[in-house]
Amino acid sequence: MAEFTELSEKIAKIKNEVQDELSKLESSKSVYEYKKNILDGKTGLIGSLMKQMGKVPNEQKAEYGKKVNELKAWAQNHFEELDAKLKAEEMRLRYESEKIDVTMPAVKNEKGNLHPVTQVRNQLTDIFASMGFDIYEGTEIETDYYNFTALNTPQDHPARDMQDTFYLSPDFLLRTQTSAGQIHVMEAKKPPIKVVSPGKVFRSDDDATHSPMFTQMEGLVVDKGITLCDLKGMLDEFVQKIFGKGTTTRLRPSYFPFTEPSVEVDVSCFQCHGKGCKLCKGTGWIEVLGAGVVNNKVLEGCGIDTKEYSGFAFGIGIERVAMLKYGINNIKQLFESDLRVLKQIDD
Ligand code: DAH
Repeated sequence: MAEFTELSEKIAKIKNEVQDELSKLESSKSVYEYKKNILDGKTGLIGSLMKQMGKVPNEQKAEYGKKVNELKAWAQNHFEELDAKLKAEEMRLRYESEKIDVTMPAVKNEKGNLHPVTQVRNQLTDIFASMGFDIYEGTEIETDYYNFTALNTPQDHPARDMQDTFYLSPDFLLRTQTSAGQIHVMEAKKPPIKVVSPGKVFRSDDDATHSPMFTQMEGLVVDKGITLCDLKGMLDEFVQKIFGKGTTTRLRPSYFPFTEPSVEVDVSCFQCHGKGCKLCKGTGWIEVLGAGVVNNKVLEGCGIDTKEYSGFAFGIGIERVAMLKYGINNIKQLFESDLRVLKQIDD
């Protein structure tokens, strides 16, 4: 009998203890752990109570079993209740921390754009590539030979005065023209040749339309039977692509030592379409590039048989094209990195 009373007291005590413990639990995880411990059949405070049945007198076994089961059911209820309460709170906190305001304006990532000179350079490269031209990129430091002599401009040739040169030494200089690339290409490759060569060039020149550093794109075609007509045909196609449909070209006689005949190429004004405006200074025409039939002396210097082959060449100022296309009247704006200017040009 003593055993039963003792066990009954123990049950009451356990109930108090569990109640006490539950009030301290703060997370559904700790409820789970505690529940697992306490209901464990071997070691659990409640779970192991049935094992004591042996000590209970036979006539009280039923009573004892009932009490233990009641305690178990009571504990289960309390665990479930507390678990539900804590889980609800945990969910609320999670919603709180993960909440987003869908009405908040999005953070804008500013979109950058390429520099206008790069844009025009890419446009030109794309156009010429679509016409079957290869790309050759030369070096910015050149020898006097490639920049001048091989281009039929030997020492003391008056045409050297056309380009004020930065010499690094008597033999080396900063190239004044991408035309130097023509010689490298013709030395490296037999005709047919169809190549454009973009890159920076340097001249001691500085005003609203000239900068000591600027960018050119050279073009060279050498093949059998090439004439000035081929140049004109290609240019007409090219200007429509870069300045728009309906743009035409006009050739004016000019002089370059490496071409004979040489021409200055004008395009019909793509703003007023020939009527005369500020851009074309009322003439209806805008000068855009120099060109010509490659001088036989240049071809022969590169070992090309002029009885079989002839060629045309042209040189475009990329900043000039950018200034015309985007209405920039001072070349410095292309080199000052003023974002207010550069951001406006995204072609
Ligand atoms: N190299 C010349 C310059 O910088 C431009 C030029 C003119 C290039 C005629 C050519 C050409 O290839 O045929 O002024």
